[in-house]
Amino acid sequence: MSDLSGRTVVLGITGGIAAYKVAELARLLVRAGARVKVIMTESAQKFVTPLTFRTITGEPVATTMWSDPASPYPHISISEEADLIVVAPATANIIAKMARGIADDLLSTTLLAARGTVLIAPAMNARMYLHPETQDNLARLREAGVVLVEPGMGELACGDEGVGRMAEPARIMEAVTGELALAADLEGRKVVITAGPTREHFDPVRFMSNPSTGKMGYILAGRAARRGAAVVLISGPTSLHPPAGVSTVDVVSAEEMARAVKENIEGADVLIMAAAVADYRPAERLETKLKKRGGVPEVTLEPTEDILKSVSAASRGCLLVGFAAETDEVIENARSKLVDKGLDIIVANKVDAPDSGFGTPTNLAAVITASDEEVELEMTSKAVLADTVLDRVAGMLGG
Ligand code: CTP
Repeated sequence: MSDLSGRTVVLGITGGIAAYKVAELARLLVRAGARVKVIMTESAQKFVTPLTFRTITGEPVATTMWSDPASPYPHISISEEADLIVVAPATANIIAKMARGIADDLLSTTLLAARGTVLIAPAMNARMYLHPETQDNLARLREAGVVLVEPGMGELACGDEGVGRMAEPARIMEAVTGELALAADLEGRKVVITAGPTREHFDPVRFMSNPSTGKMGYILAGRAARRGAAVVLISGPTSLHPPAGVSTVDVVSAEEMARAVKENIEGADVLIMAAAVADYRPAERLETKLKKRGGVPEVTLEPTEDILKSVSAASRGCLLVGFAAETDEVIENARSKLVDKGLDIIVANKVDAPDSGFGTPTNLAAVITASDEEVELEMTSKAVLADTVLDRVAGMLGG
């Protein structure tokens, strides 16, 4: 069992029937040696009593902003003490409040003041879970670096079948210990990451682009920051919110991205090019809108600068990581790019498989270095893929 002695875990409990299962999570945390501070919302107390958690954790249970004689600012003091905050069960309501910055009770206010890792274990009716608003809120939280312990399928408290059952306490415990064990192995490192598509305009209102949403690069940026790196995220146009603790440079075209990379590469330990950079741009960009009356236009294209190749040729002394977007002979093509662009790591990415490529939460991918002989594509979440890439980076940087 993991040793969590010396660590403080804040356990936020909201009003769902799964609250009774969280007593088991509290017990697992205490058994692992953690100090567990419980915050219960008003509705959580309708399902279980604070006394249950007071008894298991040996600590007073916080239920309101107003009654702690020891601290006039319990939301600040509790969030500062926490090595990690876990909200279980997380109802649709607390998820919405977190996603929108609402702070109207002790738990939501503590979460807004949180500095470290936050984990949530959603639990609710399937229709509420799958509702576009809830999914949108979850996406916002993921982008903000909140770790989701996904709910499972099965019979729900209301009798419906579907997704929305809170993950089992043992699974949540695994996620908590995994996060607390996450090494600060990129501490003191500067990591430059590019993300998203580029747009190549041929007049002020028309451009060529690609379907990249930026997800992979944004997740990488959030995970690298979490592992202690100083992260510069250079992003093409996306609708994502930058992860916490990352400095962002917004760009539009491949030319702007190349410039931003060169401006920020100084002192970098690694450049990760997750962006889908356009390979061509219109040779001419018109200042005014091209009118239809002139007939069907002929657009001449010219190549853009290959950013990875330029940085590699200038031998900046930092690790170079590329992403190969491929449809066929994925591994072979990725290996050629590794050699051709002088890279240390390439992520071979099959972009035309179901659930893989642009905009999906998962990728059929393989992380390849020059010394890897046998490699196979595997379906992984972008978050796991990001950690695998960063594991390899940290390994190569040493220490
Ligand atoms: N890349 C780059 N500059 C470009 C184009 C691509 O730095 N002008 C980077 C990408 O960010 C990615 C890697 O090169 O990390 C591979 O990109 P990919 O689109 O897969 O390959 P290309 O080099 O564009 O080759 P092709 O389109 O022929 O597959």
